[in-house]
Amino acid sequence: MRAVDIIIKKRDKEELSTQEINFFIEGFVSGEITDYQASAWAMAIVLNGMNLRETTDLTLAIARSGATLDLSDVVDIAVDKHSSGGVGDKTTLVVLPVVAACGLPVGKMSGRGLGFSGGTIDKLESIPGYRVTLTTEEFKKQLKQIGVVLTGQSLDLAPADGKLYALRDVTGTVQSIPLIASSIMSKKIAAGANAIVLDVKVGLGAFMQSLDEARLLADTMTRIGEMAGRKVKTLLSDMNQPLGFAVGNALEVREAIDVLHGSGPVDFREHCLVACAHMLLLGNRADSLEAGKKLAEQSIQDGKAWEKFRQLVIAQGGNVDVVDKPDQLPQAKIVEVVKSPQNGYLSQIHARLIGEASVLLGAGRSKKTDPVDHAVGIEVHHKVGELVEQDNPLFTLYANDQTRLREAQALAMSAHQWQEKPTSPLPLFYN
Ligand code: URA
Repeated sequence: MRAVDIIIKKRDKEELSTQEINFFIEGFVSGEITDYQASAWAMAIVLNGMNLRETTDLTLAIARSGATLDLSDVVDIAVDKHSSGGVGDKTTLVVLPVVAACGLPVGKMSGRGLGFSGGTIDKLESIPGYRVTLTTEEFKKQLKQIGVVLTGQSLDLAPADGKLYALRDVTGTVQSIPLIASSIMSKKIAAGANAIVLDVKVGLGAFMQSLDEARLLADTMTRIGEMAGRKVKTLLSDMNQPLGFAVGNALEVREAIDVLHGSGPVDFREHCLVACAHMLLLGNRADSLEAGKKLAEQSIQDGKAWEKFRQLVIAQGGNVDVVDKPDQLPQAKIVEVVKSPQNGYLSQIHARLIGEASVLLGAGRSKKTDPVDHAVGIEVHHKVGELVEQDNPLFTLYANDQTRLREAQALAMSAHQWQEKPTSPLPLFYN
């Protein structure tokens, strides 16, 4: 078999066999198949798709490309969560400590930013000292000791995904149902999850722009999960506007801390509580969604979720003083409040444009080797449907460079649209 023939076959819209998919993934991980061949292959998949059989084969090949974790000696049921990627999505930072505080041990491997969408690992690295590379032994030991782990994808788990994910980020090959579904599900299967809550984002700031596409992605992942013997619950959540207000690494950590203290943006808090409720239900710690939500709320109110977050930061070497006093998180040199140029009801706060503006400021990457500036980002001040008056604050830019600030300002301004007539707020979830 030759890699080039497999690329050509997919370019010509043909179905790949299990052997061809296995050959490609094994060759890519061993280095025999080059980055440029894998990029061309990924582009052929973006353009011509894969059927469910091919996608399942791809998922299993990626999951098998490294070690697999068995958590059965540490937790009775390993529940995991994953978001398909969005703007301002810092949900994991809240959900993990909350769920752990409710008595469900949870260990998660998260990713870095991808294109305009942020990544939990980049956010966590805003906390000085926080280690995002744990060994499998450290992962299990910490899960046993404090019931919560939040780390980057370890190099030995699904290494094919790590390599492919970094290439896709910079070759325009993120947006593809088979590639996203196999990327997410391979990681979850390799990381030993028995049950998985999948938060599929839909809208302008998501990889899935329409509800139909999002449903197809949700359905694809559910079917892959079923074939691999995992329980899967998919949520379809809105990503037309940023989740919460903060977009950018340290800014988002701060907003997550607010929610763990019982305040923070209403939409973000509610989103987190719903995700927690589903996890607690799947993990048999609650017998209904209502009960799960109450449990989650209670853990925030009584400070147990916050204490769990502190334990997590300490266990992974992070400076806990910084989360206790979030003013010590990385701070941008320039903070500029931009005012609304007109009166009106906000009809759009285009999440992708806000995400791209944040990347322009340095919060994300254009090349896979680009460093990330943890201090920079954008705070929007409104939600769709709100009435804004001229000269009221519209958004705040946090920057470390004047030229980037100006470019990001123009882009973030273009993300906002107004109308004269009242318009409804956006839903948090879709059916
Ligand atoms: N999240 C992932 O883990 N993989 C993707 O491809 C997209 C979002």
